[in-house]
Amino acid sequence: MSLTGKNAVVTGGAKGIGGASCKALYREGANVVILDIDLQGEELAEELGGRAFFLRCDVSKEAEVRDAMAKAVEAFGDLDILVNNAGIQRYSTVTETTEAEWDLVMNVNLKSAFLCAKHAIPSMQKKGKGVVINVSSVQAFITQNNVAPYTTSKTAMLGLTRSIAVDYAPHIRSVAVCPGTVDTPMLRDALQLSPDPESVFKECEDMHLAKRVALPEEVAELIAFLASDKAPFITGQAIRIDGGLGLRVAGSKRD
Ligand SMILES: NC(=O)c1ccc[n+]([C@@H]2O[C@H](COP(=O)([O-])OP(=O)(O)OC[C@H]3O[C@@H](n4cnc5c(N)ncnc54)[C@H](O)[C@@H]3O)[C@@H](O)[C@H]2O)c1
Repeated sequence: MSLTGKNAVVTGGAKGIGGASCKALYREGANVVILDIDLQGEELAEELGGRAFFLRCDVSKEAEVRDAMAKAVEAFGDLDILVNNAGIQRYSTVTETTEAEWDLVMNVNLKSAFLCAKHAIPSMQKKGKGVVINVSSVQAFITQNNVAPYTTSKTAMLGLTRSIAVDYAPHIRSVAVCPGTVDTPMLRDALQLSPDPESVFKECEDMHLAKRVALPEEVAELIAFLASDKAPFITGQAIRIDGGLGLRVAGSKRD
């Protein structure tokens, strides 16, 4: 899946799934622009080499996104690949969620994907081809307690994916990637909210038919494939990469 000469922007690319995606895209030959609020992205860009660079960008802010996309185009030329990966998790029900917390989750998880697509697609159109990959979640299909804003934002990403696919076909594709639990800093931080992180991690593993959580590299390989010319007939879809999470009918387990 050669991506030689393709220009990619990855949001939330400093670490986790985004970091692994930057590595996979770079390995396949792409020029990679890492957008993140975490300056760790600078180290990753140095580790990758001359075809990568980091821009500090809060992707929930339109002015910063517009500026970052312009700098990415200035550095490498028009864009081919946008990976909308930046995201945050918050734990609350509808009645517990403050307006500010709701807005924060929606802005970082959902509005950012709209803003980045808005400012990347015109560049892709100049090139005549492009792909927008939105990192949603298996929580767009099934959910758990206390994640109302997160689940809502991830479900809405599927609508955004379909809209982009329909509005910009046939030259621009859009695909949503929906992971189960992935071993990233986001998961590790969430585990720390429990008095017994180890047993919660074990519960997470057991929820998946695969009996483990995913590595960020596994999700990154799917993203690199979907971004490549090996996947030209895939658009508008939500692709689950979840180790069978939620596949079994609740209560039907025999072992
Ligand atoms: N880890 C999981 O189990 C899991 C499962 C399904 C979906 N996801 C989704 O995958 C994506 C990546 O998650 P992860 O687990 O790698 O998380 P992570 O917290 O490890 O990494 C997310 C990155 O996004 C960056 N970020 C946050 N807010 C930002 C902003 N406003 N502007 C720019 N960058 C910002 C963070 O600094 C961080 O580097 C998220 O959208 C998440 O919702 C994760």
